[in-house]
Amino acid sequence: MTGAPFELAGSLRIGTVDFVSPDEIKVALEIEAPESVALNAGGPRPFPRVNSYLLVPVDDAYLVGQVEWLTVERSPFPKRRGMQDFGLVDLPYPLRKLSLNPLGTLRKCPGEADRYLFHRGADALPSIGAAVVLPSERQLRSIVESGLRRRVKIGTSPLASDAEVCVDPNRLFGRHLAVLGNTGSGKSCSVAGLIRWSLEQAEASCAGRPNARFILLDPNGEYSRAFGDTGSVASARIFKVSPVGGELPLRVPLWFWNSAEWCSFTQASAKTQRPTLMHALRFVRDGQTEPTEDASHEMRRFLRTLETTIRIEKNSGAPWGSFPKPKSFFEKLEKWRTGLEPDVSKFSGTQADKLKALVDKIEVLCKARRVQHANYDFVRSDVEELLKLASEAHSAFGGGADDAVPPDVDAPRRFEGASLLRGVEAAAEMLNVSEHVETLLIRIRALLSDTRMTPILDSVPGTTLEQWLNDYIGRDQASDGCVTIIDLSLVPAEVVHVVTAVVARMVFEALQRYVKLNGVALPTVLVMEEAHTFIKRYKEDIENQDAASICCQVFERIAREGRKFGLGLVLSSQRPSELSPAVLSQCNSFLLHRISNDRDQELVRRLVPDNLKGLLRELPSLPSQTAILLGWASELPVLVRMNDLPKARQPRSDDPDFWGVWVGRDEEGKTLTRDIDWSRVAADWQARSAGAGPNDEEP
Ligand SMILES: Nc1ncnc2c1ncn2[C@@H]1O[C@H](COP(=O)(O)OP(=O)(O)OP(=O)(O)O)[C@@H](O)[C@H]1O
Ligand SMILES: [Mg+2]
Repeated sequence: MTGAPFELAGSLRIGTVDFVSPDEIKVALEIEAPESVALNAGGPRPFPRVNSYLLVPVDDAYLVGQVEWLTVERSPFPKRRGMQDFGLVDLPYPLRKLSLNPLGTLRKCPGEADRYLFHRGADALPSIGAAVVLPSERQLRSIVESGLRRRVKIGTSPLASDAEVCVDPNRLFGRHLAVLGNTGSGKSCSVAGLIRWSLEQAEASCAGRPNARFILLDPNGEYSRAFGDTGSVASARIFKVSPVGGELPLRVPLWFWNSAEWCSFTQASAKTQRPTLMHALRFVRDGQTEPTEDASHEMRRFLRTLETTIRIEKNSGAPWGSFPKPKSFFEKLEKWRTGLEPDVSKFSGTQADKLKALVDKIEVLCKARRVQHANYDFVRSDVEELLKLASEAHSAFGGGADDAVPPDVDAPRRFEGASLLRGVEAAAEMLNVSEHVETLLIRIRALLSDTRMTPILDSVPGTTLEQWLNDYIGRDQASDGCVTIIDLSLVPAEVVHVVTAVVARMVFEALQRYVKLNGVALPTVLVMEEAHTFIKRYKEDIENQDAASICCQVFERIAREGRKFGLGLVLSSQRPSELSPAVLSQCNSFLLHRISNDRDQELVRRLVPDNLKGLLRELPSLPSQTAILLGWASELPVLVRMNDLPKARQPRSDDPDFWGVWVGRDEEGKTLTRDIDWSRVAADWQARSAGAGPNDEEP
């Protein structure tokens, strides 16, 4: 099949262009054009079929169009090619028409017979009367198999005589992928498949273990089976509450949580509790609340906190802000004075002098404001003087200048839960808000004493940050596996959002730091299943951020900035319309399974350029395991029948077998029993809520 497009056009011609616009080409079909199956294009092929491809020879290339609709028009003047001259009169005849979406251009490879190159965009439009032809097998493959670096085969294209659909992992994972579709449409199988096939291909290409990292956040605990094959490249480390067998205990230490996560979890009120909690986190991250015997050491810590607090108050302008801020600053001073005064006599020399100077200064400031109807406002010079004296006293007790810089409230430095409680109490005392932090303390105490949470929060003796990064993101050269599964199914509902947020943020920040230190990114893929619960659109209300919105914000940040740090996001969801629009709009590739809900369809339609919408009309009728791949990962939208995933490697999401259990036999005739012993369930249930459930024990 060599020669110019026109040479072979004759045999495959099926119609004539009779309307041209930049986004639509209408075609009148020949009367002889096939009715249901075309046999002349090398193998039987359904024709005419919506969404199949047709070619229009233009200049030295072909314009590729995708069939958008088909119709029949009753034409008063039927035309049959070549017949008019014989004086035959045709009766009115239903004339078939179809409409094409111009997709791109197919050009012969110079010098190579029977090879074609497809690229997006139409260079030139045909004129009216131009022939429309069926693509040959070869041409069809060239259209679907277009694109460079087609490294991983993910399936075949039923619209293009089962041409292979291959993807470039750089494109698929590099700019975030959304896998969307109804329940049971095959999303989880596709996600598991994409990971497995990519790893297997990489293994084959590098003849060894690929240096790859996939981290799966799995709210339903369905993936452990899919990656449970030990010894294979896709065998995973599984982290889980109550691990069994080779699984590992899930740990997200409470000192990983940043201030926003703590605030949202404890529902700290913005006015008093949040500042107290921030102060407390600063103290504990700096080891300031560990008990100590040494009085001078104790005083040094106190002065350091005092200095930090004055500095923070000064920077926020509280001493001269609007009423009642200066009054509350005055009350704090009173409190500090009563705290410090008895201690002056315990020390001698410079230490006593400096301490005394500080106490005296506080006294001077307070005295003037103890009168009735006092003006509480402070002048800046007074506060600066106070700060200077506090800082001198601090140095007299051995504190350095850099010691007084407030430590980062979010740095993941280790602390114990009990220290945080002490820190909150101390900070509340210092800020003179002790009576307002009771609820905060109660919430933190409840968290720390909940036996379902303690194994996850891991206070003693526990993981180090380095160990955690090794375990969860993966070691050097991915030496102990490329896949990490974080099974969230048994994480208590109250903390599951915070835990997810913390894991996602830690992964992101670790990769950010990797880039900072190494100058290059470490490619990593973070997968979020059931994304509609964790990346749910939320109300922008700065006052009270619940854990779900904190979680969503982490993913929004990853979606926005992850690419720069090598972090690709894959999210899978059955309710795309509930997802955060900020995250969805950052996804550049989509794998769309069956979607029947019209709100969800509407949403995905908006993500796609106008001339590609035709294919999306198939969404409600896609069989499972079939999907449309579009976006950055694919040169043009393709319908893919995903590779088969063997039963044992599919994520566990079997539909319950009602009938089988009712009649006691499954489809293959094997007996199916469900024995019931509710006493075991009851015992397990009650033991759990009382604290030491059988499943709560560490392995
Ligand atoms: N690639 C595949 N290979 C083999 N079977 C598949 C494949 N994709 C889907 N299936 C079949 O479809 C069924 C449903 O797939 P899957 O569990 O992935 O759906 P889902 O979209 O994740 O559903 P849910 O939203 O409920 O989690 C599977 O049990 C399997 O039988
Ligand atoms: Mg699923």
